Amino acid sequence: MYKNYNNGYTLKDSFGRIINNLRISVTDRCNFRCRYCMPEKGMVWMKKDELLTYEEIKRLVKIFAELGIKKIRLTGGEPLMRKELHLLVNMISNIAGIVDLALTTNAYFLAEQAENLVKAGLHRINVSLDSLDPVKFSEMTRRNYFHKVWEGIEAVEALGISPIKINVVLIRGINDDEILKFAHLARKRAFVIRFIEFMPIGADDGWSMNKVVFTQEIIETMEHGLGMKLVPIEYRGSQPEDRFMFEDGVGDIGFISSVSDPFCNNCNRIRLTSDGKLRTCLFSLTETDFKKLIREGADDDTIKEVLVDAVWKKEPGHLINRTGFVRPNRTMSQIGG
Ligand code: GTP
Ligand code: 5AD
Ligand code: SF4
Repeated sequence: MYKNYNNGYTLKDSFGRIINNLRISVTDRCNFRCRYCMPEKGMVWMKKDELLTYEEIKRLVKIFAELGIKKIRLTGGEPLMRKELHLLVNMISNIAGIVDLALTTNAYFLAEQAENLVKAGLHRINVSLDSLDPVKFSEMTRRNYFHKVWEGIEAVEALGISPIKINVVLIRGINDDEILKFAHLARKRAFVIRFIEFMPIGADDGWSMNKVVFTQEIIETMEHGLGMKLVPIEYRGSQPEDRFMFEDGVGDIGFISSVSDPFCNNCNRIRLTSDGKLRTCLFSLTETDFKKLIREGADDDTIKEVLVDAVWKKEPGHLINRTGFVRPNRTMSQIGG
């Protein structure tokens, strides 16, 4: 039965959270093997016909936008491995109601694709970069690609894209000695350096609580090392990050404290996997199959009904490090981060 889900509708879950942010994974493939995300060997990729086509993604975004989705983030795997991603960027950037269109990438292909992406309407870019040392970078990503990634970051910087956020996952014993190097980078360049607490979601990631470097420890290390306090500049609101600068007004540092201070109460996001499954939480154990719906010929109103219903049932949050926590059976690269 069709209800009146029109432009101006607000998607809400049963806890009163407003959902306006959709993360779309466009491929599960990746040319890196970050140790917190996927195993070194044995990944089995989806076949091409399992993936939503650009036309199918465009149709879903248009319908979702009519129900209040305003922000889109394209993720992967590595999204730039999907052919001619700028074509999809162009399609989405022309959809009424989409006010923010962003990309999260490992930056390997960024130098060659940045200009086309920006011309197609991409607004913002987040890059994963876990080490400023090429040897450690290889240890984290199992690929010797530091210089190519740095070149990609400088290419978007040259295009004037702002902000460029750099995502850093610290793993104790591997790259946790680089906190001050990242602090100096934040002070020298116009990047937002964001530390993300290591979460138990990759396959074979070797996660344990003592490998997580908590936000508080990073803050203390920076304040001690630079002899300056960090002061808050932005409360996270419905974003997962808290932002700080040094007390002299220099540097922009973000923290995503997924483990020590979960932000589930303010979550505004849902996810679409590359094979068209809607996940209402990063840690969802159930999914809603939109690919099946559209390939069976569902009309827009039916799709709206299913979306409203799925969002209503959004999980309260994750239980990392508490009893009852269950890892989802997809890797981070299959979910989209
Ligand atoms: P903006 O704030 O729009 O720049 O993007 P973002 O921080 O949401 O995107 P990005 O892809 O850079 O994500 C950074 C990290 O935040 C990733 O490790 C995500 O897994 C984590 N993250 C994003 N959304 C969620 C969420 O809903 N729950 C949890 N626990 N972590 C999330
Ligand atoms: N814990 C924390 N962050 C992770 N990411 C991938 N896997 C994990 C994990 N297990 C981050 C990457 C990327 C973002 C989309 O997700 O660093 O920047
Ligand atoms: Fe690839 Fe990103 Fe996973 Fe690293 S974190 S392996 S770059 S999908």
